[in-house]
Amino acid sequence: MELTKNYIEELKNSPNGKLKSFVGQLNGDNAKVVFVLENLGKLPRNFDGEWIYDLANDDNAKIRLGAVKNLGKLKDEKVITFLSRQIQSEEDTTIRREIVSSIGRQRNPISKKILLEILKDEDPKIVCQAIRALLVFRKDEKIIEQLKPLVNHQNEMVRTVIYKEFFAEKKEKSAIPHTETYSYLKNKVVHGDVRDVLKNVEDESIHLTFTSPPYYNARDYSIYPSYQAYLDFLAEVFKEIHRVTKEGRFLIVNTSPIIIPRISRQHSSKRYPIPFDIHNDLMKMGWEFIDDIIWLKSEASVKNRNAGFFQHRKPLGYKPNAITEYLMVYRKETTRLIDWNIREYDKKIVEESKVKDGYETSNVWKIDPTFNKVHSAVFPIELCKRVIQYYSFEGDIVFDPFGGSGTVGRTAKALNRLFFLTEKDDNYFDYMKKQAKPNAMFDEVKTEFLELSEFKTLKSNDTNTASN
Ligand SMILES: C[S@@+](CC[C@H](N)C(=O)[O-])C[C@H]1O[C@@H](n2cnc3c(N)ncnc32)[C@H](O)[C@@H]1O
Repeated sequence: MELTKNYIEELKNSPNGKLKSFVGQLNGDNAKVVFVLENLGKLPRNFDGEWIYDLANDDNAKIRLGAVKNLGKLKDEKVITFLSRQIQSEEDTTIRREIVSSIGRQRNPISKKILLEILKDEDPKIVCQAIRALLVFRKDEKIIEQLKPLVNHQNEMVRTVIYKEFFAEKKEKSAIPHTETYSYLKNKVVHGDVRDVLKNVEDESIHLTFTSPPYYNARDYSIYPSYQAYLDFLAEVFKEIHRVTKEGRFLIVNTSPIIIPRISRQHSSKRYPIPFDIHNDLMKMGWEFIDDIIWLKSEASVKNRNAGFFQHRKPLGYKPNAITEYLMVYRKETTRLIDWNIREYDKKIVEESKVKDGYETSNVWKIDPTFNKVHSAVFPIELCKRVIQYYSFEGDIVFDPFGGSGTVGRTAKALNRLFFLTEKDDNYFDYMKKQAKPNAMFDEVKTEFLELSEFKTLKSNDTNTASN
């Protein structure tokens, strides 16, 4: 008889231990035994599962795993005592985790003691599994007393589970609904230092920030006394952005290591790994790391550093052309899932914001850079389009603290989003102003260019702080 799922189903529901004798006859055919175990599905009441215990001691790990999974489905105290012995001798990590899950599935108070013992396991996934199983008995204060101290566990996953369960403070409700923002921010470009401007922005008012910060002293528009001063400056800005970002929303930072040319032939040039240095600061201030996207440019579009090596070919003098930059993706840390964020929106908005076919499926985005006569580091529109479409909904407000030539603003508007930009340089601010199309009659929200003082006035006049 050919071994099929239907045949297993038939045997499983036949009386007189038909399945047991069938498996007994499979002697040595491990693949078939595994197939049976993997396709047993839900077990009928009064199922005779005695034969499965033996398989939990088989030499073949796949058979042991299948056996342990199926033992979990038998509602029998014997399963708990058997598996609690089994975990002590089992060495395979996957099977050990399955054992704990199968003990948990019993939901039987006699397993409490065993599960509490398992909390001391070295494998954090096993500990998390045991915590899940113990939380079934959350009404038992003694269990809670034993679980709470794990908030100081050495493993971060364990700490997070316990924190979320027992310590996460109920967040105070945001002053305005998640999908809305304040009118004094809508389509505004403010001329000033982003740090001064942000002091006038309410908590939780921004849906998405996409920005390319200054490249330390590699370009002409910003001079910092030291690299550390530069990193501190960025930390200050990103901390404020964290405050003004709505719960669970995204920050995408475009950076790359930079090179400061040597000052004379006696010195070497110096490379600064900006993305790697700002990453730790971001994590500490409560940004959760989500993804690293590589922006890949054509080699013809970047500065050639290869000429010397091309001639001499001597090891150690190798200098690759840098054709990538990072888009570092972070989310404002929260115990809420992304689904929560999505559920805050009307179905219509979610539908209209859906990303069309042809979207980028990998984390390498091949996009050629854009060159601009006025600004030396503008975003390509395609780069902005992708970020805005993948990380915001229509009607959201997108912020760029380092506005430059205003690419984020223009693209956000074209994609039916709102924008808020800051830029401290006079020339770039004026450039953005000139670029802006005179207000189209049908613009729902007028684009406005403001000095810091005007922005402050606007904010205080915006007495109706709720969105309008
Ligand atoms: C890398 S550029 C951004 C270019 C922009 N992404 C675009 O598409 O045009 C960084 C910009 O940040 C601005 N900037 C530097 N420090 C600033 C600060 N403290 N506040 C506001 N803007 C600042 C610079 O003048 C520069 O225009």
